[in-house]
Amino acid sequence: MNASTLATYSDNQSTEELKDVLMAYAKINKNYTAAIREVRTKLENLDDDFQLLHKHNPIHHMESRIKSPESILEKLQRKGYELDSKKISKQLLDIAGIRVICHYVDDIYTIVELLKKQDDLTVIKEVDYIKNPKPNGYRSLHLVVEIPVFFVNRVENIPVEVQIRTMAMDFWASLEHQLRYKSEGEIPKFIADELKECSENIANSDLQMQKIHSFLDDLDRFSPK
Ligand code: GTP
Ligand code: MG
Repeated sequence: MNASTLATYSDNQSTEELKDVLMAYAKINKNYTAAIREVRTKLENLDDDFQLLHKHNPIHHMESRIKSPESILEKLQRKGYELDSKKISKQLLDIAGIRVICHYVDDIYTIVELLKKQDDLTVIKEVDYIKNPKPNGYRSLHLVVEIPVFFVNRVENIPVEVQIRTMAMDFWASLEHQLRYKSEGEIPKFIADELKECSENIANSDLQMQKIHSFLDDLDRFSPK
């Protein structure tokens, strides 16, 4: 928690309440870090095994983050929820987030199918912004998976948001995010139009790259060893 969040909080709350909030965040941070570790390990294992079987890594790289205390408090306030560490895992599904950056569009669906086959993991939400892109052109596949984490004296089912996208989709989303941040939410129309056009070009290039990649198998089959 940074100084300004603490200052805002300490204006309105007693030292005891402030201590409770800090303790609640420390617990959230520890538990959700553990959940991220579990899901990342599953994804790394799948990527390694897929490479051995198919000579191809579906995952280019991964990034993960725990939602900042500011964002947690802002979202709880926006949704009208109180800060209760017992209820929070049902209320906010994106405290733990993993972004999986794949090479090709097919890799995204491969990862989704392989995750869904795992008995100890439950998909509790799935939104396919690749088949149904957002009006601004945002493309990605979002899952929320619930994973059991074994602690010293209990097991907790913890949700983790997994955003899966190609490198090109990620490139687009990063720029769009930066532009939205700089323009405080409202991107000027002429830039928004260009971004939307880029998103369509990127989607076409992603498919073309995948088609070209599939020729690798044919070359392997027909080329003399
Ligand atoms: P949040 O309350 O923001 O979590 O939204 P939501 O629960 O309705 O989920 P949604 O699928 O819209 O967005 C979840 C996350 O996906 C966001 O926090 C971003 O990381 C990413 N995302 C969604 N839409 C966009 C977008 O238009 N542009 C970019 N750059 N990222 C997006
Ligand atoms: Mg979110």
